[in-house]
Amino acid sequence: MSGIVGSVSAKTNIIPILLNGLKSLEYRGYDSAGLSYIKDGKLIINKVKGRVKDLENNIEKGTYSNIGIAHTRWATHGKVNETNAHPHQVGKITIVHNGIIENCNKLKHKLEDKGYIFKSESDTEIASGLLDYYYKKYQNIDKTIQKFIKKVDGSYAICMLVQDYPDTIYVIKKDSPLIIGKGQDVNYIASDVPAILKYTKKYYILEDYEYGKITNNDITIYDKEGNIINKELKEYQGSDLTSDKGIYEHYMLKEIMEQSTTIRQTINPYINTLEDLLKLPDLTKYTRIDIIACGTAMHAGLVAKYLFEEYTNTKCEVFLASEYRYQNNFLTEKVLSIFISQSGETADTLAALKKVKEAKCDTLGIVNVKESSIARALNKVLYTEAGTEIAVASTKAYTAQVALLSVLALSHAYRKQIFKEEKILKILNEFKNIDSILKPILENTKTYEKIATEIYTQHDVFYIGRGLDYALAMEGSLKLKEISYIHSEAYAAGELKHGTISLITKDTPVFSSATNKHINAKTISNLKEVISRGANCYLITDEDIKDDSFKQIIKIQKVSMFLKPLLVMIPYQLIAYYTAKLKGCDIDKPRNLAKSVTVE
Ligand code: M6R
Repeated sequence: MSGIVGSVSAKTNIIPILLNGLKSLEYRGYDSAGLSYIKDGKLIINKVKGRVKDLENNIEKGTYSNIGIAHTRWATHGKVNETNAHPHQVGKITIVHNGIIENCNKLKHKLEDKGYIFKSESDTEIASGLLDYYYKKYQNIDKTIQKFIKKVDGSYAICMLVQDYPDTIYVIKKDSPLIIGKGQDVNYIASDVPAILKYTKKYYILEDYEYGKITNNDITIYDKEGNIINKELKEYQGSDLTSDKGIYEHYMLKEIMEQSTTIRQTINPYINTLEDLLKLPDLTKYTRIDIIACGTAMHAGLVAKYLFEEYTNTKCEVFLASEYRYQNNFLTEKVLSIFISQSGETADTLAALKKVKEAKCDTLGIVNVKESSIARALNKVLYTEAGTEIAVASTKAYTAQVALLSVLALSHAYRKQIFKEEKILKILNEFKNIDSILKPILENTKTYEKIATEIYTQHDVFYIGRGLDYALAMEGSLKLKEISYIHSEAYAAGELKHGTISLITKDTPVFSSATNKHINAKTISNLKEVISRGANCYLITDEDIKDDSFKQIIKIQKVSMFLKPLLVMIPYQLIAYYTAKLKGCDIDKPRNLAKSVTVE
C-alpha cells in the first residue's frame, strides 16, 4: 500500500534519496507518486499518476534540495489521478499521509464553513487543511499537532513540511507504521525499513499518538502531551533486502523456487532432535487455540486448524481478522490467540491483536518481518525465515507459515503424548529431507505450463477438496484469481451438489487434491460428478490412480499429513503463475492489490 519517504540533510541532495526510497517501496503496490521539496526557500510539489519512474522523468535532471517528503499512493479516498496524489498542500502545510482519516467528512464541512476550499477527493487534503487551521490559530507547531491528534479519528502516518520552518520535517503517527532513520548530518523518515536501508540501518520506531521533529542533526520525539520521549535506537539485523530476481523473470517465480530453502531456514531450529521440538512454546495449558489473520495467512491458519484438531485433540478456530475485530470472541485465559502475518503490518490483524491484548489474554505470532508492528505488539513471536517477499502474491511466506505451524502442532502432539516418539522422529526426518521431497515437484514445470495453456482462456475455475485438501483449495484458488484475474472459487467437495454444480459446463476446469486416504474416495466421487457434466479435472494426489477421465493427475510423494500441504501448494502456485504469464498479466504487481494492507 501507500509508502512514505522523507529526508533532511546538511549537505547531501535528498532528491535521489526520496526517489530511491520510493523505488524500494514499489513492491507494496501503488497507483500514483509524488514528492515535495524546498529549493531556494520555495516549496515545490511534483506528482504523477503512474510509476515512480514517471515521477523521476518529471523532475528536472540535477534538481537539488536538502529537505523533502515523498509518497506512493494506493487510492482509498478518491480516484487514481494526479490531483488526489500526495503531497497535499493547504496554506502553510504540506503533507504526505498513509492511512484513512475516518471523520474526514465532518472535518471537511467544518473547515469549509471557515472558508477552506478543497481541490481533491482525498482525506489527506482535509488533514492538511486541519493542520493549517490549527497552525494559523495557535501559531505553534506543538499545539497544532496535539490538537490534530485529539480531533482526528482513523489511522495516519504523516510526514509534514511547514512553510515557516524550512529546515524541519514533522511526523505524526497512529495505527500506521512510521520510522525515523538516523544518519550522519542527514536523517530519514519512512513507512517501512527498506526505504532507508541503503543509507542507514539505525532507526527509531514511532508508536501511536507520538510525533517528532527532524532536522539534519536532531531527532526529537514527543508523546501526545508534548513531553520528550527517550527512544531506543534500533539497528536493522536482517539480510537479504537487496534481493533481486536473479535468473528468474518474476519475483513470484523466484520466490516459489526458493521454498525448500525458506522452509528449511524456518523450521531448522526445531527439527533435529526431540529436544529441539520442545523449544517451541508449550501450549498445554490452553483448551482452545484461535488463529487470526487475513488472506493467504488465514489460509495457513486453516491448515494449522486441521492439524491441531486432528492430531492434538485441541479445539482450534480460524478467524478473518477483519471480522474478528468487531465480534464477540469468547476469550478466556485458557484461549491462546495466534496471529499470522507476512508483513507484520496488516491493519486488521494488528487491530485484532490489540483487542486480545486489551482482554489480557495470551498471544503468539507467526510473523515474517522482524520488528514489524505486529511482531512488536505480540507477547511471543516465532519468526518465519522466508526473507523478503516482493511479489504481491504470497508463496514462500505461506509455506514457511504452514511449515512452522505444522512443527508447532507436532510439538504439541509430543507434549500431550499423543504420538509415540518413533512416529515423531519419522515426521521430523521427513522435514529434514524437505529439499529432496520438494525437488521433483518444483522441477515439474512442463506439466504446470501445459495445464496453464488449457485453462488460461477460461472465465471460471473451481477448486474443491475435503478436510485439509479444502483448506489448500482455498489458497490455490486465491493464487489463481489474484494474479491471472480469472474468476475462481473454492468449495468443500461435498458442497458442490448444494448449488455450485449448476455452474459446471463443458470444459470448466476443476482442481482438487486428494491426500487423505480416509476420504479420498469421496472427493474422487465428487470429481466424477463434475466430469460427467463436462468438467476438465486436475487432481493432485499421493495415491496411485490410473483414470483417463481426469485431464491430468499430478502425483506427489507419500509423506506425513504434517508435510502434505507443502507438496500440494507448489503445483497450485506454479499453475497460477504460468496461467497469469500466458495472459500477459503484471504478475508481481497485480492490479488493485498491495503487498502490505495497512488500511482497514
Ligand atoms: O502481510 P500479511 O500476511 O498479514 O498479509 C495478509 C494478506 O493481505 C495477504 O496474504 C494477501 O492475501 C496476499 N496477496 C495473498 O497472496
